[in-house]
Amino acid sequence: MGIKLHEVSFAYYVPKSKKKPIHFTLKDINIDINSRDEFIGLVGHTGSGKSTLVQLLNALYLPTKGEIDIFGNVITYKSKIKLKPIRKTVGLVFQFPEYQIFEDTVLKDIMFGPKNFGIENPEQVAREVAEILGISDLLDRSPFNLSGGQMRKVAIAGILASKPEILILDEPTAGLDPLTKIEFLEFLKELNEKHHKSIIIITHDMDIVSKYLKRVLVLKQGNLMFDGPKNKLFENEKLLQTCHLDYPKMIRIMKALKEKLNLDINIYKYTPEEAFAEIKRVVGENNE
Ligand SMILES: Nc1ncnc2c1ncn2[C@@H]1O[C@H](COP(=O)(O)OP(=O)(O)OP(=O)(O)O)[C@@H](O)[C@H]1O
Ligand SMILES: [Mg+2]
Repeated sequence: MGIKLHEVSFAYYVPKSKKKPIHFTLKDINIDINSRDEFIGLVGHTGSGKSTLVQLLNALYLPTKGEIDIFGNVITYKSKIKLKPIRKTVGLVFQFPEYQIFEDTVLKDIMFGPKNFGIENPEQVAREVAEILGISDLLDRSPFNLSGGQMRKVAIAGILASKPEILILDEPTAGLDPLTKIEFLEFLKELNEKHHKSIIIITHDMDIVSKYLKRVLVLKQGNLMFDGPKNKLFENEKLLQTCHLDYPKMIRIMKALKEKLNLDINIYKYTPEEAFAEIKRVVGENNE
């Protein structure tokens, strides 16, 4: 179980005349996402198709070509499928959270999902999730008068309260202050490690990729250029350049040390501790 994309292409507009070319936003994508234990980063230049792809993963869009199997529901261009079970199984927090907020209080908004999906005690679940995200004090407020970061948390709470099998978040840390960002990522990490939840995050932040994520998908102009462990991506300088991606901060520092001080170090270190041990190893050797 999980989500499988087989040769999936997607176009926002398909001309009626077969003679006119179709502009595909996503091209021949194959991806296999497990229902448990995944912590995936979806990265790529702006306009590469990330938000479009995640909207295919919970059937907001249907593939123009190919098929998507979402927990046993096979979706093609022509499918007539029941969307409710899919939306319950695959929770998507949009890039712009205001799009998915519509009730007149925060509490009602968070309760909407669990109520709609028949989850027991929706109010209690909503309050629990609000507590975890630190927004209990906002529950009686109108969601439309909140800051961007608060709105994002309300949208995230609404999706979490529906208890999806797979959680997808489109740039979830945009608009969050640095401390809240770390708290939130730690919360997702716990959800992944302790509760085995599969999580997909769209991000432009390579430090998030290097610190938290296990697997990375890279899109470039609608093509899937890479699917694998993060270290394999960061060790492929050419691919990073082709896809307009940066190194994480730690590798950037190690690279600068290597080049400027002419140190023969392995630059692919992801934490300050690892980096320190590597520098010590080389400096120690030089001193001898
Ligand atoms: N509703 C739409 N109708 C037509 N074209 C669209 C629509 N939404 C997106 N596109 C186009 O599809 C392409 C991919 O857009 P998408 O939003 O998926 O990119 P993205 O990788 O999420 O970018 P960003 O990092 O800026 O959020 C872009 O060329 C965009 O202009
Ligand atoms: Mg986007």
